[in-house]
Amino acid sequence: MDITAQNALIRITDDEFKKLVSFVYQKYGINLIKKRQLVEGRLSHTIKERGLSSFKQYMDLLVNDQSGEEINTFLNKITTNHSYFARETEHFDFLLHHALPYLEKTRSRELRIWSAGCSAGQEAYNIAMTMDQYFGSRKNQWDTRILATDISMNVLNKGKAAIYPEDNIKDLPPQWKTQYFKRLPDGSYQVNDKIRQEVIFKLFNLMDPFVYKKPFDIIFCRNVMIYFDQETSNKLVEKFYQATAEGGYLLIGHSEVLDKEATKYRYLRPAIYQRVQKN
Ligand SMILES: C[S@@+](CC[C@H](N)C(=O)[O-])C[C@H]1O[C@@H](n2cnc3c(N)ncnc32)[C@H](O)[C@@H]1O
Repeated sequence: MDITAQNALIRITDDEFKKLVSFVYQKYGINLIKKRQLVEGRLSHTIKERGLSSFKQYMDLLVNDQSGEEINTFLNKITTNHSYFARETEHFDFLLHHALPYLEKTRSRELRIWSAGCSAGQEAYNIAMTMDQYFGSRKNQWDTRILATDISMNVLNKGKAAIYPEDNIKDLPPQWKTQYFKRLPDGSYQVNDKIRQEVIFKLFNLMDPFVYKKPFDIIFCRNVMIYFDQETSNKLVEKFYQATAEGGYLLIGHSEVLDKEATKYRYLRPAIYQRVQKN
């Protein structure tokens, strides 16, 4: 077997790259302009696997994909879905000590929470566990189910299965591991049913118009806008703002920052914003 030929990259031409960048930007807001090497490196193998020999042929496949499966594989190749429990733990402390006490006083028996760009569900389950800690025996008086959305069906399926390697949950308080997980024979951990039923997973592209029955009390959109340019992020943040209830919160990743000039959210502390409550 000629290993060199097998491993050889399929080169993307300038024209193909321009078209691919434009397609992905228009549809998903993801800016690949500086990722030419990543695109060639991560997609050459897939193109060969499909029996194709150029990016042009591969893009025809993508654009005409009715099943959504080809797009799904493509998105999995170009995005990073890395996530873990207790990531940026300040947010869960804020939830426990500030947001939930405030919302419990100002809402009645229902909280609407959205984990937007949820990857394999770690963030959403972490929120559900934090709510369980906060509400304790009062929990059954409240509807606090969490909407968890992503563009990748792969990660959503992982989220539904709720099985994680030990390394993924190592930063959680040790007691939570026994309280909220069961250990599987292969050494991985599965979130227990009580917490799993609190999270609803849905495929959703954040570039699409938001459709919701009632505005959200808390939106987590952490480490997602890293993919987007400023203009796309600003438009998305405005959509989040419109979808946030008065007094509700937007939590973003600590490496991200909102454009002060472009947003109506009030800055509370690093990576935490609030829609002001009108009296
Ligand atoms: C790095 S993960 C962040 C996961 C989690 N929020 C966290 O902070 O650990 C980013 C996720 O955003 C998703 N994503 C990227 N573009 C998106 C879009 N246009 N709509 C919805 N999700 C998107 C990716 O599929 C990926 O799962």
